[in-house]
Amino acid sequence: MMRAMNKNKSTRSTMQKTKRAPSRKPKLDTRLSDAEQFLLPTYKRQPIVFTHGNGAYVYDSTGKKYLDFLGGIAVNALGHAHPRIVKTIRREAARAIHFCNLYHNAYQGPLARKLTEISGMNRAFFSNSGAEAADGALKLARLCARTPSDAPDKPAPKHRILAMQNSFHGRTFGGVSVTFPEKYRMPFTPLLPGVEFVKFSDVEDLESKFDNTVCAVIFETIQGEGGVHPVSEAFWNRARSLATEHSALLIADEIQCGLGRTGRYFAYQKFPSKPDIVLIAKPLAAGLPLGAILTNEAIAARIGPGLHGTTFGGGPLVCATALEFLSIIEDKKLLENVRDRSAELREGLAKLAAKFDFIREIRGEGLILGIELSVDGNPFAAEALRQGLVINCTHDFTLRLLPPFIITSAQVREFLRLLELVLAKTPRSISAAPAQTAVNPPRFAQSAAR
Ligand SMILES: Cc1ncc(COP(=O)(O)O)c(C=O)c1O
Repeated sequence: MMRAMNKNKSTRSTMQKTKRAPSRKPKLDTRLSDAEQFLLPTYKRQPIVFTHGNGAYVYDSTGKKYLDFLGGIAVNALGHAHPRIVKTIRREAARAIHFCNLYHNAYQGPLARKLTEISGMNRAFFSNSGAEAADGALKLARLCARTPSDAPDKPAPKHRILAMQNSFHGRTFGGVSVTFPEKYRMPFTPLLPGVEFVKFSDVEDLESKFDNTVCAVIFETIQGEGGVHPVSEAFWNRARSLATEHSALLIADEIQCGLGRTGRYFAYQKFPSKPDIVLIAKPLAAGLPLGAILTNEAIAARIGPGLHGTTFGGGPLVCATALEFLSIIEDKKLLENVRDRSAELREGLAKLAAKFDFIREIRGEGLILGIELSVDGNPFAAEALRQGLVINCTHDFTLRLLPPFIITSAQVREFLRLLELVLAKTPRSISAAPAQTAVNPPRFAQSAAR
């Protein structure tokens, strides 16, 4: 009995001891080790587990708060846990998440109408991702170029596709075929035949490669992954006129820069002409997977049932959420907010560029901005994370900012203060950015910002 009591006592005291003095060894986060062990290693992920977000902030599993100026790479345009989006998703999930495309649902038609109104196009096809939208657009281009006399089992004479150097269009076979960096493309050869790359914004190079065998020219209106490079107006205009002259399609990839990010619904809306196809995805359903091909009646006339399709694309839950996303942009005048916050950001960034001589150029429009450094940008993105700021480094030397459309002036000031700290604190690597090239034009954008 006594022994039992003593045993109980000692057990209790051990438990108390355990409670009072927890082991100093950090607890292994099994979510990280599971990811390490069971995921295909397709990403170099930071060892951070994000658990939730609120507006422009995200939180990790240790409770650390971050200002999110990457927004899930241009996806979270309304930040995190926007109350109207949460309400819509809850409401629709309780009604129906999915109906197949053999029937209509309540939101797909209205969303197509809204998207055609804001883009100036006439028809929409819904996909699940950006890459699928790009892939579908390439199929449309090949379809439209075919004539009844073309042999069905051979490439049509008009099958060439012009894509851009420095481009990124996603990871499907079609997507990587028109994506320039060799590391994304070459391991998967043979790819789509007939693709040729043109120097971005180089009118002469475009003219030299365009002829009647071209069925499409595809480019990002603002190259995102390639380091935030807006296309020049001269190039847009020439691409438009050559595409019309040779009956080819002009495909504008606005997956990263579209749907309000420039302070206009579409980046191409500053140009006098329209593309034949617009690709959108990322922010469309506020974080749920949804992409779309927007196009015109002439192309729609070439399509019939069975030529293209998808199981998930355009389901009721995602389409209702996308309609709500577009309503919030309108109701809260977010395009105006994008323009105003962008002006504040650019003013602050120009001051930082004057202070830190390794800032080479500030590029972009609205809330898609790139800060090109003359040194490796990766350590700066890593230091930013330590300081509680999420940004990303793309193309090795460019810090990319894709903050949500809802950011406030106070959050812009908070960002500039954190970035200044990061720029001052980060040791600079000796590797220098390559000399200016055609895709890396002179500091026009920064001089405009100064
Ligand atoms: C311009 C552009 N096109 C296409 C894609 C591919 O989109 P997704 O990753 O949704 O397939 C991306 C993704 O980053 C992109 O930025």
